[in-house]
Amino acid sequence: MLKLWKKFPGQLKRLILIFLLFVAALMTARHFLIPHDYGQYGNYRGGSVHEIANLEVKYAGQIVCVDCHDDIAEIKFAGYHKNVACEVCHGPGAAHVEDSDIELTSPRGRDLCILCHEYLPSRPTGFPQIVSESHNRVKPCISCHDPHDPVPPEAPKECSACHGTIARTKSHSYHADVECVYCHQASPEHKVNPRENLPSKPKTRDFCGKCHAEDADVEFGIPRVDMDAHEKRYVCWQCHYPHLPEAGQ
Ligand code: HEC
Ligand code: HEC
Ligand code: HEC
Ligand code: HEC
Ligand code: HEC
Ligand code: HEC
Ligand code: HEC
Ligand code: HEC
Repeated sequence: MLKLWKKFPGQLKRLILIFLLFVAALMTARHFLIPHDYGQYGNYRGGSVHEIANLEVKYAGQIVCVDCHDDIAEIKFAGYHKNVACEVCHGPGAAHVEDSDIELTSPRGRDLCILCHEYLPSRPTGFPQIVSESHNRVKPCISCHDPHDPVPPEAPKECSACHGTIARTKSHSYHADVECVYCHQASPEHKVNPRENLPSKPKTRDFCGKCHAEDADVEFGIPRVDMDAHEKRYVCWQCHYPHLPEAGQ
């Protein structure tokens, strides 16, 4: 072994020594830096289970609030905020449940409401949104909307109040001048209780044919198609998005 070592050229010996030193340093570091209970149960520190279990409980869950605030809970669970838990707005309430002299805060400003209701194109269709810069920008939201039973003081006038993305898309499309209600029969109740009173949607090819069939009785200039030859097996909106129609390419 020693003979073999002597035969090695000097630079290789130095390289091997550096490598061995590196491995030794790694082992020492591993010994001192990785906690000893690592891997006790799995790929984490065994002791962290006890540490997390011993954290102070801060949230009580909204079912507990019902015991003492049944009047407010009843209103909230019947309204639009039924799925927004009490502590989302009032903060962690476990201490308050133990001792009601420990007061909770109420978010009376605009900041919290805006977190969920500011207009964002990525939010789902029909989720109630506002542009806070232009929506009564001075007053706190709760001066007009009850936080436990939020409804607009009056029904919005325009479809765009809730369908902002569709209205914006349509406004620069070929269908800019075709009104929403030409294609969707919306009852006034839709603006108050949208999901329970959904408007109609066009169902047949003939609906679009009212303007686009070759024999349609409408103004000159609207592009026409031969209803019997033009992709007869499909409804039109499988190919043309009705709010931004384009004729291919
Ligand atoms: C054991 C009864 C009890 C429980 C449980 C309880 N509260 Fe209260 N709460 C009270 C009492 C008493 C008051 C003070 C009197 C009042 O304003 O009604 C109060 C006041 C409040 C206030 C007003 C504080 C203020 O300064 O304006 C809020 C907000 C509140 N509770 C929220 C909650 C929430 C959220 C929960 C559930 C996590 C909850 N409470 C659970 C008894 C309770
Ligand atoms: C969307 C946010 C929000 C949610 C959810 C919410 N609150 Fe409130 N709550 C408020 C605001 C804001 C105020 C202050 C109202 C004011 O000053 O006019 C308030 C006031 C209160 C008050 C004291 C004033 C009063 O009306 O007596 C109590 C008690 C209370 N909330 C309990 C609850 C309970 C219990 C729940 C769940 C069942 C709940 N809140 C859910 C925002 C909320
Ligand atoms: C954690 C998110 C969240 C917060 C915070 C929140 N909301 Fe809401 N809000 C919702 C949800 C969810 C709905 C129900 C949407 C639905 O039914 O499509 C809603 C519905 C509404 C509506 C619409 C009711 C209607 O007629 O369509 C209004 C107005 C409203 N909230 C006002 C407020 C105000 C004022 C605050 C602040 C005190 C607030 N919200 C805080 C989530 C939130
Ligand atoms: C001066 C009264 C007033 C204030 C303050 C106010 N709103 Fe409104 N809000 C209204 C009215 C009126 C409507 C319905 C008419 C419209 O604008 O389309 C409405 C509509 C809404 C809607 C749409 C409801 C829906 O079903 O789509 C939401 C969400 C909303 N408000 C949230 C807020 C939030 C959040 C704040 C605070 C940042 C706020 N409002 C402040 C009066 C007010
Ligand atoms: C107060 C808010 C609001 C106003 C104002 C409003 N809508 Fe809606 N609309 C909704 C909500 C919420 C839905 C349900 C969205 C969902 O389920 O994804 C919806 C759904 C629809 C649908 C889809 C129906 C379906 O079966 O999928 C159509 C079409 C529609 N609205 C048309 C209109 C038209 C047209 C107007 C104007 C006359 C209008 N809406 C005004 C909130 C509103
Ligand atoms: C030229 C007719 C036409 C006009 C104008 C029109 N829509 Fe539609 N809309 C349709 C058709 C067709 C569908 C069904 C698409 C489907 O089933 O895939 C639809 C679907 C919808 C839906 C369901 C969700 C979606 O995106 O598919 C909503 C919401 C809606 N329209 C709202 C509106 C609003 C708001 C306006 C006015 C700004 C409007 N529409 C104008 C034809 C129209
Ligand atoms: C009330 C009449 C009317 C109805 C109903 C209607 N459209 Fe249109 N459509 C128009 C007008 C007007 C134009 C634009 C003509 C122009 O300015 O070139 C147009 C343009 C189009 C184009 C664009 C063609 C091109 O040159 O790029 C397509 C595609 C289209 N519509 C499809 C549909 C579909 C699909 C429906 C059914 C959901 C429908 N339309 C219902 C009036 C209508
Ligand atoms: C399978 C897909 C498909 C379906 C379904 C479909 N179209 Fe088209 N449409 C196209 C394509 C691709 C073009 C462009 C090439 C062409 O003119 O054939 C077009 C072109 C058009 C044009 C423009 C014609 C021109 O001269 O500028 C109109 C208007 C139109 N379609 C309306 C409709 C109507 C109304 C329906 C339902 C009755 C419908 N389309 C169904 C794919 C489709």
